[in-house]
Formats: sequence, C-alpha cells, structure tokens
Amino acid sequence: MLGDIVELKKNLWLVKGENPENAFKAPTIASSVLYKAEDRLYLIDTGVGPVFRQSLKKVIEQAYPISEFYLLNSHLHVDNICNNNIIEEVQAKKKHHYVSDAGFASLNSYVFDNLMTLDEYYDVFSGYSFPYNLKLILYRLKRVLLNKRKAMNAFVGMSTKKYQPIHTSRRTMQPLELHPDYEVVIGEVPWKGWDLKDINVLEVRGHAPDELVFYIPEYKFLFAADLTYELIPMWPTVHRDRSLQAIENCLAMASAGEIEILADSHREEICDSSDKVVALLEKFLTDHDRFIEVMQEIMKAAGSLTVDEMYKRLKNRQDDPAVAAHFELDFPHSPYTLRSLICTLMLQLEWPSEGKVGKKRFSLPTE
Ligand SMILES: [Fe+2]
Repeated sequence: MLGDIVELKKNLWLVKGENPENAFKAPTIASSVLYKAEDRLYLIDTGVGPVFRQSLKKVIEQAYPISEFYLLNSHLHVDNICNNNIIEEVQAKKKHHYVSDAGFASLNSYVFDNLMTLDEYYDVFSGYSFPYNLKLILYRLKRVLLNKRKAMNAFVGMSTKKYQPIHTSRRTMQPLELHPDYEVVIGEVPWKGWDLKDINVLEVRGHAPDELVFYIPEYKFLFAADLTYELIPMWPTVHRDRSLQAIENCLAMASAGEIEILADSHREEICDSSDKVVALLEKFLTDHDRFIEVMQEIMKAAGSLTVDEMYKRLKNRQDDPAVAAHFELDFPHSPYTLRSLICTLMLQLEWPSEGKVGKKRFSLPTE
C-alpha cells in the first residue's frame, strides 16, 4: 500500500510507492529507499504527495541522530522527485543533494519532447480507453484549431497536474559530475559511477539520460529504480541498448551471488535472493526479445503497418505470455500507452517508415 514502510534489513528501508488502478486519475508514485550507515543517512528518491512524505519523515525521525544526510535522485522524472524539499526539514550537520546533471536539460520537458517525436508517427492522443478517450477530443480539437505544440503542452499540463505539489528542490541539487567518478568491479562486472562511502552510485543512462542505480555492498542490495520497469523503450529518449546492457550486467552480478536483494521503483515484488533476482532479470530479457520476435513475424506477414495496425495485431497475440506481459502495462495500468513502446521499438530497431505525419507506415528493413 502507498507509504508502507518495509524494513528490508537493519537500517535499510523501502517506502512503497503506488501504481494506480487508473493512471489518468491518480499519479504513479515511485518507491524510495533509506539506508543508515553509522551516522550517515541516505535517501534515494522522494515519491509524490503527503502520504508518502509522512512515511519518509517517519523513517528519517527513527534514524536520528545523524550527522550527514544524502538525498539522491535515481533520475529527474516527476514520480521520483516531488518531495525533494524534505531535505530542508532534515536535522543534520551536513546535507547533500546529488543528481546527474544530464537530467537538468529535460527536467520540465521530457514528456512533451517524447510526445512531439511520437506524434510524427501516430496520433498520440489515441490509445486511451473509454471514457478517458472522450477527454482527448479536447486536445485533438486544440491540435486542429491552435497548433500541435499548444495542444501537446495543454495535454502534458493536464497529465502532470495530479503530481502537484512538485517540490523538485532544484536549488539544492548538486551534479555528481562535479565529483571525481570511479570504476568499480562488482562480481566481475565493471561499472562507472561514484563512490559515496557506503553506496556505489552506478551509471545506467538508459531509461533517462541521468539514470542511476544504487548498490549497497553491506547487504548486496541493488535499488534498480526504473531499470526494471518492463516497458523498454517506453519512449524515444530511452536508450534501449544501455538499458539492456545494464540488465545483463545486473544478471551477471546476481549470478555471481553479488545481488542478494533487489527492489525497484514500481514493482510490488522485492526479490530477496540471488536466484529470484536472476529469474526476474532473465524473464525480463526473454520477454523483451520475444515481443520483438512477434512484431517481426507480424510485420513480415503484413509487409507494412502503421503503429495502430501493429498494436491491433499484437493485441490478438496475447496467447503469447511475453505479449500478454506487455499488454498488462498498457494504459490505464501505466501512464503510457503501449503504442508508445511499439513506435519507439520500431524506430530504435531502425525499421523504415514513410507516409503522412501521424500515420506513417513501418516496414522491415531490407537486408
Ligand atoms: Fe522514470
């Protein structure tokens, strides 16, 4: 349940976020991790809203006294950062707020930018089920009567309103890039990142350009944040190859017994053994490959398809568990429609497209 505090280990807590039944009505809220080592307290991500904030406060107060406080953001997506200003309330001699500076440029624009790109290929206002599709008529009208940018801006404004108040605490953010980075090998897997005494901050830069994951050696614990969010790549700014590479890396670490617990931002399940971590990550990669395979089969038979046509054909293939697993995260179970993933995948697989803006037809690349 939202705001539940799970004590994973001594001095290591997970505050649970929430995936709403209906992503149009309520915000998706990412989970947070808190970890105390000696008199240092680390908080990774801050979720959304007052219920979540209350739970963060409860753990922080429980952890007192502390001399040093670190607020870390896995990336600057809205569902991870709304209570960032909690740093002001924390009582500690030294306080730090670290993020990757690669997130600054798109802090307020990443949803808009992605939708603008996707709208070149299919109508991004499609794919929402009844009755929410009725609301989309308004934005379609705006697109015709005003222009695409204004319509998209209004749509993004409506979509992000439910996250308010959004306290990014931009003022306290310090780029990790100002500190010396390092290379660390965990279970024979080399990573680049930063050493924060008790936590290894590891670069992924797949789900978002500033994406980081966090490894706590004391417990062989990985906080994977959005790395293990099933829809890869959910939109064009996701770097699919880097995401897959990082999952492969984590799989190698878990196989070597170097990840014994894994939690992330959006899944209910906490993997509490290396075997469970391996099973999760293997399923992840297998489902991803199989989904592409089915798309290839469909495209081969059809010759060329729009995003909508591909979506409809995939919908009829849900007897395949990998396809069904992807459809489980279609709107309204996530804020994104599966059309966004399908279009982005075809773009990143470099399938050629042609035709009218918003109705482009994709085909398989010629050998
Ligand atoms: Fe995210």
